[in-house]
Amino acid sequence: MNIIVTGGAGFIGGNFVHFELKQHPEDHIICYDALTYAGNMETLADVMDNPHFTFVKGNIADRKQVDSLFRDHHPDIVVNFAAESHVDRSILDPGLFLQTNVLGTGVLMDACRKYSIKRYHQVSTDEVYGDLPLDRADLFFTEMTPLHTSSPYSASKASADLLVLAYYRTFGLPVSISRCSNNYGPYHFPEKLIPLIITQALADRPLPVYGKGENVRDWLYVVDHCRAIDQIIRKGREGEVYNIGGHNERTNLQVVKTVLKELGKPESLIRFVADRPGHDRRYAIDPTKIHRELGWLPETKFDDGIHQTVQWYLNNKPWWQHIISGEYQNYYREMYSNR
Ligand code: NAD
Ligand code: TYD
Repeated sequence: MNIIVTGGAGFIGGNFVHFELKQHPEDHIICYDALTYAGNMETLADVMDNPHFTFVKGNIADRKQVDSLFRDHHPDIVVNFAAESHVDRSILDPGLFLQTNVLGTGVLMDACRKYSIKRYHQVSTDEVYGDLPLDRADLFFTEMTPLHTSSPYSASKASADLLVLAYYRTFGLPVSISRCSNNYGPYHFPEKLIPLIITQALADRPLPVYGKGENVRDWLYVVDHCRAIDQIIRKGREGEVYNIGGHNERTNLQVVKTVLKELGKPESLIRFVADRPGHDRRYAIDPTKIHRELGWLPETKFDDGIHQTVQWYLNNKPWWQHIISGEYQNYYREMYSNR
């Protein structure tokens, strides 16, 4: 099978490319990525020579480029990871999120219709459900939870989800959607909480924790996410939404302290800074549907996953040092200097 993976030079897409080439060496993976600030060819360096892998640079919102991609590579399956993915950046510049996350999804699906693909899979997020209160540990997001977004990022992802379901209902496009909780693991861009904390702490620099650090996220090791998507595109039902996550909730402060312990760095590095506007309080996924239908469950315990992740950042310093020595410095100054 030919599988187009958009956004495969990013964090989860890059992990998915590695996962698929290992698990399904008979398939051909075509990575299509615009190489924005978040895309990194170093993430794909060790698969570039693989005869079952092809890299194509291009934008999902560009109809001409997308059309040649489909014409040249005859995909059976398209998995769309390409997105602007950072909530804080969506507060600085919402427009780009509409362009890539909503329009780009529509452009890809138009090509899927024209070239009669077998499955279009949309990688979405639990953030489309909004948030849950901190004092109701009994509440979880199911696939039936109404969409109720908070940030321009989550609103753009929810809009894309609705468009995907509309293409299923109106045109019969064979689609599926997965909504996943917060991922962590190798190749994670250091603007996100866990890699930010690891890279800042290694340099003995302050660790910015928004508000009181009480917000809760449901953390999933990225390889568990890749395994879930792999099962959905091969065995999941058309027209269905699958939640991916696994009762692994931590407050941000707990996460930061776990990382510091793993690194042997002091908690005195923690700085409480101004909160994110509209900051979602708690995300928590109920993964019953994907477990019942596809037998999927997360396999990596949080402490083991954090250990593996910290080891990866220690063993792959050039990968993240190249990022934080460049344009990223300007972003960091803009986001944190007056906080
Ligand atoms: P990322 O920011 O690390 O990577 C995004 C990739 O998409 C980059 O390689 C970038 O170059 C590429 N890209 C951006 N705009 C593009 C465009 N217009 N055309 C082509 N390529 C483009 O993101 P990530 O964390 O790997 O997230 C991947 C997907 O998973 C996103 O759709 C995101 O919404 C979703 N998701 C992420 C998480 C998480 O915890 N990171 C959780 C749930 C869902
Ligand atoms: P993030 O990694 O940006 O993912 P998301 O906003 O999609 O959940 O943030 C995870 C949590 O960590 C979120 O509650 C915001 C918080 N956070 C901080 O406290 N400090 C930071 O510097 C960052 C980037 C995030």
